[in-house]
Amino acid sequence: MDYRAFFAYIFSTLETRDVNEKKAEAAWIFQHFTGKSNLEIPILDGFFTDIASVDKVIKERNNGIPLAYILGYKSFYGRDFQLNKACLIPRCDSEILIENMLMKVEKTLSEIVIFDFCCGSGCLGITFAAQYILDNPSCKICLYFIDISDAALEMSLKNAEKILKNQVICKNIPMDIMNDKWDFDRKCDVFISNPPYIPSIDIDKLDNTVKDFEPKIALDGGADGLKFYRKIAENIGKVVKSDTLCGIEFGIMQEVMIKEIFQSHKLAFYKDLSHIMRCATFKIDEY
Ligand SMILES: C[S@@+](CC[C@H](N)C(=O)[O-])C[C@H]1O[C@@H](n2cnc3c(N)ncnc32)[C@H](O)[C@@H]1O
Repeated sequence: MDYRAFFAYIFSTLETRDVNEKKAEAAWIFQHFTGKSNLEIPILDGFFTDIASVDKVIKERNNGIPLAYILGYKSFYGRDFQLNKACLIPRCDSEILIENMLMKVEKTLSEIVIFDFCCGSGCLGITFAAQYILDNPSCKICLYFIDISDAALEMSLKNAEKILKNQVICKNIPMDIMNDKWDFDRKCDVFISNPPYIPSIDIDKLDNTVKDFEPKIALDGGADGLKFYRKIAENIGKVVKSDTLCGIEFGIMQEVMIKEIFQSHKLAFYKDLSHIMRCATFKIDEY
């Protein structure tokens, strides 16, 4: 089958309802199997023959399994992050948090310590470190991954090894941030967190591809979805310095409560790609 027919085959076989999602997923599958972008099809003259392995992927996808878990990775900020079932699939909305933190951070530091609280695949901390090092290659960076899931922590470290190579010192901290003591050997210069924030009662209302496959522990933010933010607000003083740059992601319609929970800090808010207020940055000494 030539590449044009191959792309048409993927597109027509996928049963994804949303047409934009279908286009994006067909393009991803095409790229996965050919190593080429579907946008290049007019100038490509290759053929694809291993239809059985594509059919397997499409069958699983049509059974509702997210493509990121089937293929085992997801692109975030232009880099592929490997995933296992313990990792939330990185969302492009989270890129907004990183982008704004990178605009705010001091670029001339000789050493920085980054804490990625509730790290999952490590996409936030790793991306921040990878981008920071482009602007400041001589900076010594230490990146701490903090999560309750050992499998997620393992994946964070694996992603860090692949993406950051040996440019950054990375450390895993297995920790239940709700119940364990916030007791670290050092304070951080950059605090990033995207904790679980879906109200427990809303989990069942999520799309099947999310609620049936993504780890519940990565989604459930307690009765009103905000328990992790209250814990962070209560303890953040123990892990940051006065000028530490902090960034948090939160859920839809949580902005007002986030403002209240972090009322002793001056928060700057940012919208995601769908114009939903999605994240905030602050420094402890600003108000
Ligand atoms: C919303 S996911 C975010 C993952 C990643 N930072 C991202 O943005 O893709 C939340 C993460 O919090 C972790 N988590 C849940 N409860 C926790 C707890 N009590 N202590 C520490 N981490 C927890 C989950 O394992 C999950 O990896």
